[in-house]
Amino acid sequence: MRKPIIAGNWKMNKTAKEAVELINELKPLVAKSKPEVVVCVPYTDLWAVKEAIAGSKIKLGAENVAWADSGAFTGEISADMLKEIGVEYVIIGHSERRQYFGETDESVNMRLKQALAKGLKPIVCVGETLTEREKNKTKRVLKKQVLEGFKDVVDFTDIVIAYEPVWAIGTGKTATAEDANKTIGYIRSLVKKTWGAEVAKSLRIQYGGSMKPSNAKELMAMRNIDGGLIGGAALKAQDFASIVNYKG
Ligand code: PGA
Repeated sequence: MRKPIIAGNWKMNKTAKEAVELINELKPLVAKSKPEVVVCVPYTDLWAVKEAIAGSKIKLGAENVAWADSGAFTGEISADMLKEIGVEYVIIGHSERRQYFGETDESVNMRLKQALAKGLKPIVCVGETLTEREKNKTKRVLKKQVLEGFKDVVDFTDIVIAYEPVWAIGTGKTATAEDANKTIGYIRSLVKKTWGAEVAKSLRIQYGGSMKPSNAKELMAMRNIDGGLIGGAALKAQDFASIVNYKG
């Protein structure tokens, strides 16, 4: 019932020229893909990637969006700027933004509401750090991130959540499929409690954190996992394509 969504998060990688090369290599490999395929790329790559994906199934995403319409926000990029290029998805609240750039649940909430108001589809990241996990705080952390991050949101139709345990990002450590499924199940139960059973049932929740060709199938087989947010493996066309084509 929920259409799987595999999204690449390129982070701060690929110049526009390199981006086009990667897309050109990727396009034929995902031409018959069943899941929705998205590439979230650096701002400076957006125009070039938009042109490069034309006529393919690949959808365009950005890695962040400002909470304000316009004005004195040096270094920020507005939703209108993204919309004009043809951006459809936007990552919000990635752990690297939270860790290095002071992103909080409150700023995530502001960016999220702006994205929704402007018709962008948000991929909102949540996840616990290793210390939080070791202290058995995973549920408490996720609850705060979800309740504060999604405060005042009523319509979840266009929202995707990415559960990314911070300790699994870029480390080669993956949550076991059972673990990821269980934790995503917890996130779904939180959504159910606050926003109702229908919302929880149709909401797509991805797993992210060292997802790669060798573990994609097992993760995607889990009942609660509706896709992946892929970092490192999204930078290689073959690897990203084999995750997209996890069913074979
Ligand atoms: P990774 O990154 O796949 O390289 O672990 C995932 C992410 O940060 O979105």
